[in-house]
Amino acid sequence: MPLRFTLNGTDREVDARPGESLLDVLRERCGILSVKDGCQPQGQCGCCLALVDGQPKVTCAIAAEKASGRTIVTLEGIDPADRELVASSFAATGAVQCGFCIPGMALRALELIRRNRTPTRDDIARAIDVNLCRCTGYVKIVDAIELMAATRGQTGVAPGSDQGRTGVAPGSDPGRTGVAAGTERTPTDGVGARLARYQATDIALGARPYVDDMTRPGLLHGAVSLSPYARARVRRIDTARARAHPGVVAVVTAADVPGDRWYGLIENDWPCFVAEGEEVRCVGDVLAAVAAVDRYTAREAAALVDVDYEVLAPVLDPEAALAPGSPQVNPQHENLLERSAIRRGDADAALAASAHVVSGTWKTQRIEHLYLEPESAIAEPQPDGTLRLFTQGQGVFDDRRQVAGVLGIPEDQLGVELVANGGAFGGKEDMSVQAQTALLAHVAKRPVKITLSREESILIHPKRHPITMHYTVGCDADGHLTAVKARMIGDSGAYASVGGKVLERAAGHACGPYRTPNVDVESLAVYTNNPPSGAMRGFGANQAHFAMEGCMDLLAAKVGIDGWEMRWRNAVEVGDLFSTGQVLDKSVGIKKTLAAVKDRYYEAKAQGRAVGVACGMKNSGIGNGAVEWGKARLVVEADGTVSLYNGYTEMGQGLYTVLTQFAAEVTGLPAAVFRPKVDSTFALGCGQTTGSRATLFGGRAVVSAAAKLKADLAGGSSLADLAGRVYGADVVVDDTTSPGGHAHSGGQQVPVPPAGEQAKPRPVKTHTAFGYATQVCILDEQGRIERMVAAHDVGRAVNPALCEGQIEGSIHMGLGYALTEELRLADGMPSTFKLRDIGVLRARDMPKLEVILVEEPEPEGPFGAKGVGEIGLVPTAAAVASALEAFDGVRRYTLPMRDSPAARAMSVGRVR
Ligand code: FES
Repeated sequence: MPLRFTLNGTDREVDARPGESLLDVLRERCGILSVKDGCQPQGQCGCCLALVDGQPKVTCAIAAEKASGRTIVTLEGIDPADRELVASSFAATGAVQCGFCIPGMALRALELIRRNRTPTRDDIARAIDVNLCRCTGYVKIVDAIELMAATRGQTGVAPGSDQGRTGVAPGSDPGRTGVAAGTERTPTDGVGARLARYQATDIALGARPYVDDMTRPGLLHGAVSLSPYARARVRRIDTARARAHPGVVAVVTAADVPGDRWYGLIENDWPCFVAEGEEVRCVGDVLAAVAAVDRYTAREAAALVDVDYEVLAPVLDPEAALAPGSPQVNPQHENLLERSAIRRGDADAALAASAHVVSGTWKTQRIEHLYLEPESAIAEPQPDGTLRLFTQGQGVFDDRRQVAGVLGIPEDQLGVELVANGGAFGGKEDMSVQAQTALLAHVAKRPVKITLSREESILIHPKRHPITMHYTVGCDADGHLTAVKARMIGDSGAYASVGGKVLERAAGHACGPYRTPNVDVESLAVYTNNPPSGAMRGFGANQAHFAMEGCMDLLAAKVGIDGWEMRWRNAVEVGDLFSTGQVLDKSVGIKKTLAAVKDRYYEAKAQGRAVGVACGMKNSGIGNGAVEWGKARLVVEADGTVSLYNGYTEMGQGLYTVLTQFAAEVTGLPAAVFRPKVDSTFALGCGQTTGSRATLFGGRAVVSAAAKLKADLAGGSSLADLAGRVYGADVVVDDTTSPGGHAHSGGQQVPVPPAGEQAKPRPVKTHTAFGYATQVCILDEQGRIERMVAAHDVGRAVNPALCEGQIEGSIHMGLGYALTEELRLADGMPSTFKLRDIGVLRARDMPKLEVILVEEPEPEGPFGAKGVGEIGLVPTAAAVASALEAFDGVRRYTLPMRDSPAARAMSVGRVR
């Protein structure tokens, strides 16, 4: 189908296939990569925005033939001054995280300020309401657009209402400004600086490629054939029709796997392909994969794979899964995936003696990560017979181990390279399509790329656990906690993933940041035929805090004190114990965060506002007996740059930037000298980028390696003299030697001490470090959320702008968790794949956010830093529940709280 249109000022004539969208034409036929595919064909994320006849349009929702005769402009074609305006404004305000949404946001912004030279923040929020961002909470995106308008209007108006929040000069992007080696470091480069994100300007313009933006000579495109059933026996897989489809180069199934078909982060229970005779255990299980000359042909052929299923009754409820006689989801394992237990003191006796006791059952929902970049991988055979894998996973060395296992090759025959991804939040820890892509390339002997559609992405990756929690908590007459007793059961779905560890972490955080002398907690992770549950931001702590903080409010009412005072009386201090019995011996900032919000809380109450408060703590590092690694290599290159290799993933959180800041701080070199890289050039495997650990451990390694480079520079050598030198450091924190660590490696978080020892705290170390937070939720007269105040102990704010961004984005995710988000299922299948129905909040739904950074330095962290990636939403849902109870007297025990006025006020709340 021939099409003629004008693209970025040039007349174009292309051939389009029937059924193609304008987005397909722009990306596949015209090489325009600033338009991203986040949800095709829904038109609900805005990542594919272009100006069509001068109007901003989502191109995935426009049929290709409708483009005929149109004038189309993308970011590539706008005026160079506007490109500079976009790039500098988004970089300067810290508005770029993963960046996948930003090109669409930027075009929308340009269109807005063309129509309205002085838009208010509300105008901006309404203008970008059709563009989704999963990372930023929109705060800094609105800052960026304000700055664009102010710069364009030359009004001199500072962006944002908070002075000093955007202290980085526009254009100060170390990924683009080729600062010559030896140039003096600017004061904004090191620890504590609001340094612009690495490559921020390229990312803002859509010029830094994600995996799906990449190509290779002779590239084939892959597609997968997925199970539509939650549980069924596979009688036969017939690929004849798929193989016969014109343009198909290779079709693979379980029978073609030369190595081990099973992989997993902890348990090898997840098949890259389900074989004939086996059961599919959830929707989204992979039956076959196809490589063809283009993506459309591959998808057509994947749909031609004929699978004969014997459909079986699925196990969908975790309680039922534990009942005698329930079908076994995993033939190799009982349905109880993992049990964790913590016992300290005598909780039953303490509860019996308590002045006040509350109890209840709290339930949380299944949550879809909904990062805007769907999963994608490229595998490319190399001339030397090895294979190279381009992946966006959260642990590229784990990807290598698992893919090499599938191919049956030594790991050194597989090179891996991270392509910084478009959001992950835990959902890219498990394998998605890396193995299938590699196998197709291995068989076809050509490079292959598989990119999932939004629907396939939702089907394939694990979710946040739904957990049911029964809590009983007591306190004395003054409100001091006496005991916590909790029973938790979580739906881990069809595969182990890290589900057992999520429930372990929920148990570990069961008491929140409160001094609790008697603890009796048990959590169960259970296999079902639902989609797998695994890592997602907060990793069990969100769920536990929703319940525990609810208990704190209920107890405060019985004691006759307010929520803030109840928490102040119980907040842990140095020397107190974590739930597990670990002595909190340093960097305990919870009281500082409570103090930081105190005035806001009481001022709001004095104004008669419904106000809620909740606290949170979250581990930094995996802990629980894991060996923690941070590894880094600094390689002085001949061009005067320094390659900075580490093993953790950049996924929008800003890891590359903070690592360069550590290196700049230690060496005195400009940050622009350093070029962060993650690949298998060096053996830097250190597990997943998870548990808020990358800054903590990766940062320590960079600091250590940078000190060696610094020593040589101090000796009088220049970078030119040192070209070719490698400075390395491997930092290890081996918690397996702690008594707690040994106990945990067997699957029990903390053992029940022998009788007679229960009152004695044992020397347990479950985690290297902890972050702390207090959040306040203030409602307006109609019960809508007007303002969130969030005080966070981050140890040391290595880059305050990035810290704020992590917390703002987390609160956005936490408010969705509280009020509107849920991935509902019917017979194990998601009831919807539509972004709006999943309930992620839009820009105009966001209340005012005030972030207060508190620094309680962590002695084991680099320059005192500890992780901040997850804790931002740990207290959020509980703070909202607390405020809602203050508003209407209803204590809500189930998420999302759709029945609340706050939820009904959300635009996505009304859609559902
Ligand atoms: Fe907006 Fe990641 S920065 S989706």
